[in-house]
Amino acid sequence: MSRHLRVPGSCNPSGNSAFQDVLEARRRLLKAGLGAAVLAALPGCATPGAGPVLGFAPIAPSGEDLLRVPPEYQARVLFRWGDPVGAAAGMPEFRMDASNSAAQQALQAGMHHDGMHYFPLSGSTHGLLAMNHEYLDEGLLFPDGMKTWSAEKVLKAQNAVGVSVIEVRLDGEWKVVRPSKYARRITARTPCRISGPAAGHALMRTAADPAGGTVLGTYNGCAHGWTPWGTYLTCEENWHNQFVNAGTLSAEQRRYRISAKGRNYRWELHDERFDAARHPNEPHRFGWVVEIDPYDRNSVPVKRTALGRIKHEGAACSVLADRRLALYMGDDEAFEYIYKFVTARPYDPVAREKNRDLLDEGTLYAARFNADGTGDWLPLAGGAQALVNTRLAADAAGATKMDRPEWIVPHPVTREVFAALTNNSARGRPGNAGADAANPRSPNRYGHIVRWREEGDTRFRWEVLVLAGPEGAGNIKGDAFAAPDGLWFDAMGTLWVQTDISPTALGKGDFAPLGNNQMLAVDPASGVFRRFLTGPRGCEITGFHTTPDNRSAFVNIQHPGETPGDRSNPENPRAFSNWPDYAPNGRPRSATVVIRKKDGGIIGS
Ligand code: FEO
Ligand code: CA
Ligand code: CA
Ligand code: CA
Repeated sequence: MSRHLRVPGSCNPSGNSAFQDVLEARRRLLKAGLGAAVLAALPGCATPGAGPVLGFAPIAPSGEDLLRVPPEYQARVLFRWGDPVGAAAGMPEFRMDASNSAAQQALQAGMHHDGMHYFPLSGSTHGLLAMNHEYLDEGLLFPDGMKTWSAEKVLKAQNAVGVSVIEVRLDGEWKVVRPSKYARRITARTPCRISGPAAGHALMRTAADPAGGTVLGTYNGCAHGWTPWGTYLTCEENWHNQFVNAGTLSAEQRRYRISAKGRNYRWELHDERFDAARHPNEPHRFGWVVEIDPYDRNSVPVKRTALGRIKHEGAACSVLADRRLALYMGDDEAFEYIYKFVTARPYDPVAREKNRDLLDEGTLYAARFNADGTGDWLPLAGGAQALVNTRLAADAAGATKMDRPEWIVPHPVTREVFAALTNNSARGRPGNAGADAANPRSPNRYGHIVRWREEGDTRFRWEVLVLAGPEGAGNIKGDAFAAPDGLWFDAMGTLWVQTDISPTALGKGDFAPLGNNQMLAVDPASGVFRRFLTGPRGCEITGFHTTPDNRSAFVNIQHPGETPGDRSNPENPRAFSNWPDYAPNGRPRSATVVIRKKDGGIIGS
């Protein structure tokens, strides 16, 4: 509570030109009478103030099946897997025995909540939450797991991933508004338009879509992105797991790790487009950044091919001084690359419709981190073909192989960029790359965070912010953590770091003292980490997001109870976690949690 709002009346004492732009844009929008909707998508400024206001006492690690926050805060479960989104078409209640039908699942929250964004309808008390439902646990989704298999089960699985848009309102406490004219589910079967340079390309055409312009569905959205005109970006990450090719894999399919069995999702048995031997172009239609207008439930999601096809972790937006956008993207696999897309044109802060196709034109770069602390953004040549096979184009360009790039976030005012490299235990193994300056540990069991400042479009200057790990293993100032994954800058300039230690390591060996996965708050100036939240057993923490006034926060608890096998035992689904319901016949459920300070104060103070 000590370092409070220091600069009344100003969002930023530095006079930074970008931020003046934002303030000017806000004034213009207000004058033009536009809603808070668009306003709020601008880089946020809370109540007048500058710099992090970290005032809470850090909490201890926890191995309990509970969610903990500091005692002056309260955390409430808002939106669990299976809760109805509130669409007028129907609001089926969740059944604890997982017997909801595929059609009911299409009207309920999906599984495995991940990246999330708040889009205001009215400031910080009424808005929309758009969120990803990343992947599946069929041991929880079906009463008998995968013991039997059917078209209905494939449909239910496809309806349990994708995106939810829900309407939320603070009325004493935060509630989901039901019914809502905004509420919708986007699933692995929702028609999406393919746009940008690769639309219609021969590599994008299939038997069902000879024009290469429409694809059914988006899934495995992991981290998210946003635009200043108030759209949500879902970023397709491990889409390859649903595809199988029992025949001969092409070099490109191997590069994207398509395999004979995938992850045994068995979608191909009742939706043959996931058989990549029969439909070799169908995989080309996944791995994109998908733009969604959360304010229009009838809008068609658009796959923006100019941003490349990788295993997208996210697409975090930075508004440059000339109002072009830079979007930062990780490709989350060991030894993959960090990317940046810069729009060809500036965005229009007033005329929203003029930005409609802004993400279709620009330059895609991959990052090279040089040993001397400089970096180069390498433009990817090759047109549409290179966008479909982005990894191959980045190989040819000579980008730096990173330790699993997860979330990347730019500071909303300084534009300094932070990237989480979650771990890479394969670094240094025979046949693999060894340590380099930007990935200095071999193997990298605990992960690290790098930061950089841009110097024009094609150069940057970088350093390692922190090497994570248990006490004695890294160089953390403050509380220990490992496997940084989610990152978010709030409007106060606090960096929030969320962890995802995998269930194979969680609670075991030298990871044991770290307890369950957690979230920490960091003042980037001091680099001190303070533990703010610990999750229930087996979960990861992700999707942290604050309202523009910084007085409410939303966070996603993903896969509570996850075990190394990835799929829960349907005979005893609550063996490891029964959060958040603790129902005797229940099962763990991913959920959105809302956090408020008991005195209504700034989150993090
Ligand atoms: Fe879906 Fe890279 O975590
Ligand atoms: Ca992640
Ligand atoms: Ca995880
Ligand atoms: Ca994760």
